Amino acid sequence: MTNPTGLKLVERDASGVDTAFRADVLAGLAEAQKAIPARWFYDDAGSQLFEDITRLPEYYPTRAETEILRERADEFAELIGPGRAVVEFGSGSSVKTPLLLSAIKPSAYVPLDIAGDFLRASSAALAEKFPGLPVHPVEADFMRRVELPGEIADLPKLGFFPGSTIGNMVARTATDLLRSMRETLGVGALLLIGMDLIKDEAVLKAAYDDAAGVTAKFNLNLLHRINRELGGNIPVDAFAHEARWNDTYARIEMHLVAKSDVRFSVSGQSFAMAEGESIHTENSHKFTRRTAYTLLAAGGWEPRARWTDSEQRFSLLLAEARPPRSAP
Ligand code: AVJ
Repeated sequence: MTNPTGLKLVERDASGVDTAFRADVLAGLAEAQKAIPARWFYDDAGSQLFEDITRLPEYYPTRAETEILRERADEFAELIGPGRAVVEFGSGSSVKTPLLLSAIKPSAYVPLDIAGDFLRASSAALAEKFPGLPVHPVEADFMRRVELPGEIADLPKLGFFPGSTIGNMVARTATDLLRSMRETLGVGALLLIGMDLIKDEAVLKAAYDDAAGVTAKFNLNLLHRINRELGGNIPVDAFAHEARWNDTYARIEMHLVAKSDVRFSVSGQSFAMAEGESIHTENSHKFTRRTAYTLLAAGGWEPRARWTDSEQRFSLLLAEARPPRSAP
């Protein structure tokens, strides 16, 4: 998989192993609290399972954010104005992106994604839905500053980062991302970003541990992926999905908990876990108005407007990249 500059985004060794995946898994399993970054959930099966999650009765974020995009379109369209180039961080979803694009009359659409196949498919679908809208997909890792296509250089820009994906990151990484988005888009750009809200613990836990067991399957799929792609022999049946509320950091954590003492190997390296020990696989941070504003400000984005759904479950925020200011 290569981007237009020929830079390899997914590096594979001679036997076809994704070297970044292997490095993350081996390093993460060697930690005292074992942990694997959430980005590795999304192989084909994991991406499909996430789609299934978004339709679960317990998983409210997708419906709540979609409600805001539908019901408050006039308000954010007024603040954003027409003629902006929309730069989406991630390939775009079949539902949310069209809602935004129909609301604001953009001049171009630029989806950024590290997964080229997904990017091309969703770009083609969008171009078909919006005839006359220039679509310029860019295959890139948006955790770093991205060189935008020359065609949109002189257009005012709107970044779009829905889904509370920012919540997957700890504060430091989230701040780094917001700062690189600011570098990518430039001073004067706007950012429309979704952030999930702190709410009743039981509601949060159910959203990440649904009755049908889809989220459990999504979490456990990571172990299947490790076994398949990294030559592992992890006894998947010996692990249980768990969603925990970490009140100190205001986040749901997903863990894979060993149900008995286990030994296994991955890429030739041996690991042992005692019963009750876990692999931490995801953080999903939840916000208040204040913590959301503080995080945005830390990343160089000044909050301009904020919307929530009718049940106050989810927030969509509009922020502006302002020049640095030291005076109060
Ligand atoms: C895609 C990161 C927004 O944290 O809610 C859903 C991923 N994990 N259920 C989230 C997820 C378990 C999701 N995000």
